[in-house]
Amino acid sequence: MFDILTLNKIAKCGLEKFGDNYKISDNCENPDGIVLRSFSMHDMELGSNLKGIARAGAGTNNIPIDKCTEKGIVVFNTPGANANAVKELVILGLLISSRKVVSGIDWAKTLAGSGAEVAKAVEKGKSAYVGPEIQGKTLGVIGLGAIGAMVANAADALGMKVIGFDPFMTVDAAWRLSSAVVHANSMDEVFENSDYITLHIPANDATNGTINSETLAKMKDGVRILNFARGSLVNDAHLAVALEEGKVACYVTDFPNDAVLSMDNVIAIPHLGASTPESEDNCAKMAAEELRDFLENGNIKNS
Ligand code: MLT
Repeated sequence: MFDILTLNKIAKCGLEKFGDNYKISDNCENPDGIVLRSFSMHDMELGSNLKGIARAGAGTNNIPIDKCTEKGIVVFNTPGANANAVKELVILGLLISSRKVVSGIDWAKTLAGSGAEVAKAVEKGKSAYVGPEIQGKTLGVIGLGAIGAMVANAADALGMKVIGFDPFMTVDAAWRLSSAVVHANSMDEVFENSDYITLHIPANDATNGTINSETLAKMKDGVRILNFARGSLVNDAHLAVALEEGKVACYVTDFPNDAVLSMDNVIAIPHLGASTPESEDNCAKMAAEELRDFLENGNIKNS
């Protein structure tokens, strides 16, 4: 019998992947395995029985990897399982960074009066909430893994020019990319040439603060930045200055704890990138299968 601790709500179809030989609970002192989503484990004691941790998601920055490595605990993630969900939200982010739909919706809720009065006010709103089309503009994609590649292809299909950079580009990832996506030789090339920049890299010591005053200075005036990867990739204090000065026209982030939250040209979404039933099911199933295969057979996939 294996004890599995769930630190977040995990889709039922995933939990069902563990068979009769498993006891699953959200309150277990010394489990054999842990399944979680975004719960931060950094302050948690790692029990003596713990052998594997499965993250139902791509990022593992909520797990103390170094501590796990020291103790021989294997950490799994579910690359690609939520890529489509994130891609769809990034495309929405791209559109709302350009078209002033979010402010327009807020304003429309304040309209009152007869049908004719509302229609008259709407005429005014039409010119107040003008924003550019994305077709023909350049999207820079930093990171061309499962999500970045899907975003690049979707933006290409929407008529954007796409330039991407990934220092760890795999052959598989290259095959997934539309042939229209231009491979930049450096991140700077992406910064210098993009009207929109979207981040799809993991957060770690090497990537935290990728968007800072130095990199912002290389970007086009009026650039729009999308962050559906991790909040720590952006130096908020530096970004606030760039937003204030209009260097950055809009910042769309899936991490609303950012210091720039209250600024008018910031659209903050409460970490909903992977929040679709399809993605939650995919991630839960993949995480459970990985952990089970490891606990029962010692197999290690996506660690
Ligand atoms: C991820 O890293 O894939 C996401 O943060 C998953 C989630 O939202 O739980």
